[in-house]
Amino acid sequence: MVLQEGDHRGHPPDKSIVLPRSGETEASIVNPFFNKDLISADELTPEKLAWLFQITPLMETVHLNSIPCRLLEGRILVPLFYEPSTRTKTSHQTAMIQLGGAVSPVEDPIRFSSFAKGARFKHEIIAFAIMGDLLVMRHQEMGSAQKAAEFSHVPVINAGDGNGEHPTQALLDVLTIWRTRRRLDDLTVVLGGDLLNGRTIHSLIKILANFKNNRFILASPEELKLPEELKRFIEGKGVVISEHQGFTEEMKEADIWYWTRVQKERFENEQVYERMKNLFIINPDVLDRYARKDMTLMHPLPIVTEIAPEVDDDPRAIYLHPQMRNGVYSRMALIAGILIEDLTPDAIIDSIPRKFRPQVEEFRSLQLPDLGKVLAKPA
Ligand code: NCD
Repeated sequence: MVLQEGDHRGHPPDKSIVLPRSGETEASIVNPFFNKDLISADELTPEKLAWLFQITPLMETVHLNSIPCRLLEGRILVPLFYEPSTRTKTSHQTAMIQLGGAVSPVEDPIRFSSFAKGARFKHEIIAFAIMGDLLVMRHQEMGSAQKAAEFSHVPVINAGDGNGEHPTQALLDVLTIWRTRRRLDDLTVVLGGDLLNGRTIHSLIKILANFKNNRFILASPEELKLPEELKRFIEGKGVVISEHQGFTEEMKEADIWYWTRVQKERFENEQVYERMKNLFIINPDVLDRYARKDMTLMHPLPIVTEIAPEVDDDPRAIYLHPQMRNGVYSRMALIAGILIEDLTPDAIIDSIPRKFRPQVEEFRSLQLPDLGKVLAKPA
C-alpha cells in the first residue's frame, strides 16, 4: 500500500508495531493490523492472531444478537471480485455492515469492469481505491493482490489470488481449530484433495507451521501434490510431513482432517480434471475405517463431490457450523483492526447504543488468549 500523508481518508504513515505476548492485557497492546494490507498468511503471526482472537467473542455476540454497532460508521468497503465468490464476499460485506460500515458494490467486475475492455490493472485499482477505505479483492492470478496493494493507497485484503493464497479463510480456519481444540500446537492434521491449487491449504499450513509439534499428513493424487517450494518452507520450520496418494492407517492419528475441492478452474485440460475429481471422496465408510471418533472434519466450502452428503450429519463434520460462521466474526475483527487504530474491546462496546451494552459488558476485560506453544523465532 502506498501511504499518503494527509490523505483525507485518514491514512497516516506506517508505524512500528509493538506485538503483544500471550497473557498481556489488551490495554498494553498496539493494534498490529491498523492500516495494513493482508496479502499472505505469513503476516498472521501467532502474536497477531492472539490479538484478533481476543476480540472475536465480542464480535460473535454482536452478530448473533443483531446488536447495532457504530464502530465503522462512515467507512466504506469496496469488494472487487474478479472471480466468482459467494461466502467469502458476503461474509466480508456482512462483517462491515454489522459494524456500522457500508459497502460500495462493484457491479459484476468479471463482466462489466473496464478490465473486460482491456483496461490497465493499475488504473482499475487506483479508481476503486478512491471510492472507499478498504479493498477486498479476489482475482484469478497469483500475486494480483500484492500488485493491487502496490497501486492502492487504502489497505487491500487478499480474498484469494489464483492458486496462491487465501489468508482470511486460513484466519477463520485457525480460529475454528483454536475454538474446537483449544490449541494450535501439537496437532496432527490431514490435508487432503487438491494441494497443488488449493489456496486455502497454502495459507493454513503457513500459519500452523509457526506452532510447535504440528505434523501434516498430506493426501492427494500425484499430479496435485503440494508445491515443492511450500513443502520445503514448512519443513524448514520443523514440521514433519508425510505424503500419500490414498487413505492410510496413519490418518487414524489425526486430530483434524482438512479436505478440499479439486479446483476445476485451474485445469487447462478438462479430461485431467475429470480423472482427478473423484479420486478422494470422504464417505461414512472412509470415516469409520480411517478416522478417529474425536477428530474434526473441516472444509473451506464449496463441497462438490469430495465429501458425501451423508457426512454432513456426522458430529465430526464442522464445516457448516461453526467453521463457516467463524468467517464473519474473524473478518469483523480483522476489518475493525485495519480501519480503527485504537481498537480495544472498550472502543467497540462504546460504539454500541447504551440499551444494548449490558449484553456485551462482560467483554470489557478481555485477555489475550494462549494459542499454544509457538516456534522460537530465528535469532
Ligand atoms: C475457497 C477458495 O475460493 O479458494 N472457497 C472459499 O473461499 N471458501 C475454496 C474453493 O473454492 O474450493
